[in-house]
Amino acid sequence: MTLHGKLIQTLVSTAIIAVSSSLYAAEPIQPIVPAKEINLALAELGKKLYFDPRLSKSGFISCNSCHNLSMGGTDNLKTSIGHNWQQGPINAPTVLNSSMNVAQFWDGRAPDLKAQAGGPIANPGEMAFTHELAVSVLESIPGYVTEFKLVFGDDSIDIDKVTDAIAEFEKTLVTPNSPFDRWLLGAKGAITAEQLTGYELFKNSGCVACHNGPAMGGTSFQKMGVVEPYQAKSPAEGLIAVTGKDADRFKFKVPTLRNVEMTYPYFHDGEAETLSEAVDVMGRLQLNKKFNTQENGQIVAFLKTLTGDQPSFLLPVLPPSSDTTPQPRPFE
Ligand code: HEC
Ligand code: HEC
Repeated sequence: MTLHGKLIQTLVSTAIIAVSSSLYAAEPIQPIVPAKEINLALAELGKKLYFDPRLSKSGFISCNSCHNLSMGGTDNLKTSIGHNWQQGPINAPTVLNSSMNVAQFWDGRAPDLKAQAGGPIANPGEMAFTHELAVSVLESIPGYVTEFKLVFGDDSIDIDKVTDAIAEFEKTLVTPNSPFDRWLLGAKGAITAEQLTGYELFKNSGCVACHNGPAMGGTSFQKMGVVEPYQAKSPAEGLIAVTGKDADRFKFKVPTLRNVEMTYPYFHDGEAETLSEAVDVMGRLQLNKKFNTQENGQIVAFLKTLTGDQPSFLLPVLPPSSDTTPQPRPFE
């Protein structure tokens, strides 16, 4: 190709990129992009740890127990079941696209995924273990010893390495290519007329004030019950637990709406069983809007276009325990 031809080609492809990004530049929601710059060996180790119930006291509960990757990264329960069948205090948010959150947990008390990942292992109401015991279990499993050495280049295993690996795996749990994202990228047939009307309603009613960006949430803390108070069924008070400021009472991290069709039930107390109910509550409590049945159905139809490609991989095969591995204690 001549230099001139190349220049024209470059100009044309630049123009195409400019056009396709301007298609959604005006939209308050951007497509999810596939995970980039993943350390594959680290993520592969993290995947094993994510699925490994031996990081719990019972030997029965893994991250995947409550953030089931076959079910949108949640447990689909109002509140989770922890060690010894303990009733959890709050609804489990999805791990899908959680790498896009400004902070982790409903009240944002963990700054990032790595900081978050140590929490559940040592939480008496969740996996009920200690970091020391979790590490000693891993040290007793020859397959892990070899893999940690390969990934980190030294002989020691510690909780820092464990949470590093889990966080790297979680970075891969993004869900691009939903019908709505294909629509944003120019495939006008990717969503139906009803779904498009639902999107217009979602946008024009003001839902996008809080549910915006690629994840449609996760970027700010907002009051639950702007117009009228929300009668929560859980004692959680949100961001005030972290900041101590009275103004932050009942401010929760805005949940992502990506894959929301799969992540029922809704709200931090899991009290909204259906999308239709959640949309009704949001309209009334956040925006002083009462949607009629048709409008509610249109918004729900739109929300169902947000389901992207789910994580897909071979189930990790976990290295077997050895004779010295501490025994699980499921009934203590
Ligand atoms: C017993 C159930 C349970 C187990 C086991 C569990 N989690 Fe969670 N997870 C929860 C609940 C409940 C929350 C919300 C807690 C809160 O916000 O106070 C949560 C929150 C999170 C969040 C924050 C998401 C967000 O949007 O704020 C991430 C990430 C996460 N868990 C990852 C993990 C990982 C990694 C493991 C394994 C090391 C794990 N969880 C084990 C129930 C569980
Ligand atoms: C003022 C900010 C704000 C506005 C406006 C808003 N939301 Fe929300 N949304 C939130 C917060 C905060 C939560 C979490 C509340 C809780 O769990 O207590 C939430 C939760 C949700 C949930 C449940 C998600 C889950 O996984 O639990 C849905 C669905 C939802 N919003 C849809 C909408 C729709 C539709 C609109 C417009 C009618 C809307 N939201 C307007 C802040 C907002």
